[in-house]
Amino acid sequence: MNHFTQFESKELGQELLELAAAYKANPQLHASKGEGKRIGCIFLNPSLRTRVSTQIAAQQLGMEAIVLNMDKEGWALEMQEGAIMNKITVEHIKDAAGVLGSYFDVLALRAFPSLTQKEEDVTDFVLHQFIKYSGIPVVSLESAIRHPLQSLADQLTIQELTKGNKRPKVVLTWAPHIKAIPHAVANSFAEWTLGMGHDLTICHPDGYELDPEFTQGSIITNDQSEALQNADFVYVKNWSAFNEYGKILCTDERWMLTEAHLKNSPEAKVMHCLPVRRNVELSDEILDGPRSLVQQQAYNRIFAAQAVLSKLLG
Ligand code: CP
Repeated sequence: MNHFTQFESKELGQELLELAAAYKANPQLHASKGEGKRIGCIFLNPSLRTRVSTQIAAQQLGMEAIVLNMDKEGWALEMQEGAIMNKITVEHIKDAAGVLGSYFDVLALRAFPSLTQKEEDVTDFVLHQFIKYSGIPVVSLESAIRHPLQSLADQLTIQELTKGNKRPKVVLTWAPHIKAIPHAVANSFAEWTLGMGHDLTICHPDGYELDPEFTQGSIITNDQSEALQNADFVYVKNWSAFNEYGKILCTDERWMLTEAHLKNSPEAKVMHCLPVRRNVELSDEILDGPRSLVQQQAYNRIFAAQAVLSKLLG
């Protein structure tokens, strides 16, 4: 594994899940593996969980973590080749990523999509610029189209709650939101859930079809009630339209998951990556009740990151 930016294979996924479970059982298992190594965590966008869990994960491997909030503390980056930099950008990605590559052993990057420049976003242009010019292993802390550390933690959570050889029914359900939200969490959840061999049903209002690259093999429906029947895991997430790129097409609050939606799903556990807009995406009664896995998911972010960094360290 040279970089960690997406789902690669079921074998690698299983290896990372086993390692994450081992670190959860004993966080100090390889406490000196990363001694003398540094990870640079570069944030072009805000974060709570990803920032802190990645730092804890690095520390538990004996690695030094340095965080740079590039959006607030760094120079405005120019991404275009051959740009005449006489406007607001101050430093070219070639120069910045080259320097960061010489300071660190691993680079971790959060770079959200524009939700306006579809062609750039779907190729994960910013992430690939950092990979190209840093010359060191790169971990995605959420890119324009994927959030693989979140998905690894989510798969660990599903694995922990799945009893015996049961094939769980996993549902990804769209939720309303007041802002246009990226597709990364939904894409990655689909990519990893299907990749790890689970059945996945995705439900959303008309017009919210995700990029088929991520959803091939799932059942896709506009009927939320039918999708939720007898579900074991219900992942709640908003995303903006993909075809009408970045648009908000629906604000129908009937899509917000409440206890009433789960009357025919007695076993259903509810997942969300957080941050969540309470009583917009998900009701208080679910978030504060026994179905909610959101705290377990967030805690598992530490061990997902620790497994990935450990694998990259070799
Ligand atoms: N789930 C997640 O990535 O949270 P943050 O945006 O707070 O890092």
